[in-house]
Amino acid sequence: GIDISSLRGETGVITLDRGFKNTGSCSSSITFLDGEKGILRYRGYSIESLAEGADFLEVAYLLIFGELPSKEQLHKFHTDIKGESHVDEDVKKILDGFPKSAHPMGVLSSLTSALIAFNPSSVNVNSEEDMYKAIVKIMGKFPVLVSWALRKNQGTPLNYGDNSLGYVENILKMMFKKPNEEYVQNQVVIDALDKLLILHADHEQNCSTSTVRLVGSSHAGLFASLSAGICALWGPLHGGANQAVIEMLEAIKADGGDTKKYMAKAKDKEDPFRLMGFGHRVYKNFDPRAKIIKVAAEEVLNDLGIDDPILDIAKGLAEEALSDPYFVDRKLYPNVDFYSGIIYRALGIPTEMFTVMFALGRLPGWIAQWKEMRELKEPIGRPRQIYTGENDRPFKTIENR
Ligand code: ACO
Repeated sequence: GIDISSLRGETGVITLDRGFKNTGSCSSSITFLDGEKGILRYRGYSIESLAEGADFLEVAYLLIFGELPSKEQLHKFHTDIKGESHVDEDVKKILDGFPKSAHPMGVLSSLTSALIAFNPSSVNVNSEEDMYKAIVKIMGKFPVLVSWALRKNQGTPLNYGDNSLGYVENILKMMFKKPNEEYVQNQVVIDALDKLLILHADHEQNCSTSTVRLVGSSHAGLFASLSAGICALWGPLHGGANQAVIEMLEAIKADGGDTKKYMAKAKDKEDPFRLMGFGHRVYKNFDPRAKIIKVAAEEVLNDLGIDDPILDIAKGLAEEALSDPYFVDRKLYPNVDFYSGIIYRALGIPTEMFTVMFALGRLPGWIAQWKEMRELKEPIGRPRQIYTGENDRPFKTIENR
């Protein structure tokens, strides 16, 4: 029943590729990923070297502008961001309107969208300067919104930022400073968050990044594109997996720690349960980010003197999966989200905030991809379809149905 004429694309026959498993949507010089070999590079630099030697703001600069910054360039970027790190007091009224039970990802995407009304000049980007202004605005305001999402979730008063601090230090202080108490920075916590944010900063054409590009391709502004990307990231098959992993590990612990039972559930095709934090569309060997995070999780727990039984459950599950034919045959390995929640927990970040932390890390990647798309003057994204519905039916008025 398919009408052949509907299969004609602009330059030939339409291909159907559900989930875009083999379809490139753009050319890009930002992130290189080899799923077979487990390689991830930002602008040609290995993820291992960046996680080891750079801080998050340097990596953001690298992704967005293409080169590692000099000291002067980084200083200017940070100064410009700090100049934009205030959020209009009226946005707080919108925050006040949310119930405390609101999911922080819903709060974050709504407030990111609300920023457009307070910063209308960020929508029209007709020059390099307009683009730069929009970028530093969102790099400045996003951490504030992240901290607000946490404080709302916890029912605690909001904190103002502190421009004397580094980018990540300032985020931590806005998130965690208690009223009438000095906030004491902890280098282990700063380094761990820096590393996590770097590891999440870009991942080529994943679901949320493709969403940012698709929305941006209609020339909707940067903030609108980001807000849509945040919603895409929220789902448990994508960024929401980090929350789902901890919830799964907690459920296994509460159920007596029987990992074998959950392995069996994950393999049972009648059971919708999946081992959260396992598998990846592109990595079919290992996720290089997971390797780094696993080591970091052990270090952070050690340095902070935390004994979290959930890490043992996670390690047990990973060990079983790596020698189980079901997982081996399907090339299912722990992904970036499998261990990240364990670190977030150790840093005192509540489970519902995990995906917000992912969004904070992915922000420079989304910005870089949106910028590249606009600079390359990509056409509006508009996939085709294979129509499988009814063909040419005579209309009947409601009286005659
Ligand atoms: N647990 C059990 N079985 C799984 C899992 C899992 N976590 N992941 C995939 N499989 C199985 C599927 O059932 C399927 O089996 P079949 O061939 O017998 O039907 C096979 O492996 C292939 O899986 P697909 O869903 O077709 O793979 P796809 O590339 O579409 O999905 C995804 C990748 C979404 C990541 C998937 O592996 C998954 O749902 N994982 C759990 C959620 C998760 O951790 N998401 C985070 C991804 S990383 C990120 O976004 C940052």
